[in-house]
Amino acid sequence: MESVKLVDGNIKTMIALNNKNLYKTDCYINGEWHAAKNGHAIVINNPFSKEVIGTVPDMEAADCVEAIDAAHSAFQEWKKYTAADRAQILRKWYELQIENLEDLAKILTIEQGKPLAEAKGEIRYGASFVEWFAEEAKRIYGDVIPGHGRDKRITVIKQPIGVVGAITPWNFPNAMITRKVSPALAAGCTVVIKPSELTPLSALALAELADQAGFPKGVLNIITTSDASAIGKELTGNPKVKKISFTGSTKVGKILLKQSADSVKKVSLELGGNAPFIVFDDADIDAAVKGAIASKFRNAGQTCVCSNRIFAQEAIYDEFVEKLVKAVAALKLGDGLETGVNIGPLIGAKALAFVENVVEDARSNGAVILTGGKVSLVNDLIYEPTVITNPNTGMKVFREEIFGPVAPIFKFETEEEVIEMANDTPYGLASYFYGRDYARIWRVAEALEYGMVGINTGMISTTVAPFGGIKQSGFGREGSKYGIDDFVNIKYMCWGGVD
Ligand code: SIN
Repeated sequence: MESVKLVDGNIKTMIALNNKNLYKTDCYINGEWHAAKNGHAIVINNPFSKEVIGTVPDMEAADCVEAIDAAHSAFQEWKKYTAADRAQILRKWYELQIENLEDLAKILTIEQGKPLAEAKGEIRYGASFVEWFAEEAKRIYGDVIPGHGRDKRITVIKQPIGVVGAITPWNFPNAMITRKVSPALAAGCTVVIKPSELTPLSALALAELADQAGFPKGVLNIITTSDASAIGKELTGNPKVKKISFTGSTKVGKILLKQSADSVKKVSLELGGNAPFIVFDDADIDAAVKGAIASKFRNAGQTCVCSNRIFAQEAIYDEFVEKLVKAVAALKLGDGLETGVNIGPLIGAKALAFVENVVEDARSNGAVILTGGKVSLVNDLIYEPTVITNPNTGMKVFREEIFGPVAPIFKFETEEEVIEMANDTPYGLASYFYGRDYARIWRVAEALEYGMVGINTGMISTTVAPFGGIKQSGFGREGSKYGIDDFVNIKYMCWGGVD
């Protein structure tokens, strides 16, 4: 990533869009499009072709303060809107996203690298949160509690928490924004979004559609920056911000949590994972292979819920490995815009070096690489989908979140042994297992120390379920009826003298 001083305006791109308005290279603050106060910009590259696809403002803390002030002042009115009015604007935002699905997906693939079919899936997934929370806005119910005295009555209301700082990652440049921002807006909060500097164009396109949908000035603001740490400090330190919602690494999540402590902000963290994917000997092996492909190789392995460590029981180990290798070898690598491509580039050179290092560690310690194991000739950022056998629990493939298309397959004998290995990690986001025994399914699902468990499926993400982790994978839930909870304060009123 390169930061430059703009001289002749933004560098224009070659993204051919049906709706040219979606290509935005300024930030959206208080209902207007802004360059950075310092005149600097970040250069954005397509990770596959390396072409420059545009620039976005390289903002600093002063720009962030302006966005926070705008959000704070907009909050005073937005919180008074009826739920139905907020719902209507959210609904319009959703409809615009669906109308512009092709363009949004194209922008996403060009800046992030994932195959176009996956990008379209992400836009639908992202929009579904907007639709869902447009509906949930009308159901932020309170309670009436039987009083603790004959003359007492207690009522409970939920109120929007205030300005929300949403810090989002590059692996889902669209859906991680809508998953945080829709419940916040539905509840009556206003937002300042800081997208990843690697994939800001998707975020700015969403802001353009928010503008068209009719959100009042200052309700939704976006700032882009190459100095994530300065903006993180401002968002967590500014007393006008009442809530931080972050998706990203556990390392950064801990920093934001510490920084939020001084002003005792409410925080939601969706952090790293180290998902186990267990195949028991009574599993439907073909279904398990399909599930493993979906959960391991989606987005080239770059999701927090990607299975990281695959465990296959002794009796079916060889059959599972053989079928998985065949399926992995059939994956097509290339430019995400090309039809039929399954695996695109990793996000950057650092990510690629990390994956190479993890595989090298396994290889040099005695693991066997059955397929893949190197950078592809197709592109210097594509790592070949890799299957590793004979790994052990001392290796990096067991301990680290790989975030790449690498599947180590561990052999196990007993249920107790595999539960112990599966839980042997500080993370607790997603987990998966395949099997048919009814009692074992319950035992294993209960024993896995994870916020989410996929049973006979490799695809667990959906708007209607509470996405989130435990342990060092964070806290807070996104999506579902629980998704609003993180953006409201509960207040009770105790009524006396009711004689
Ligand atoms: C993530 O990787 O953070 C999100 C993945 C998902 O929603 O499926």
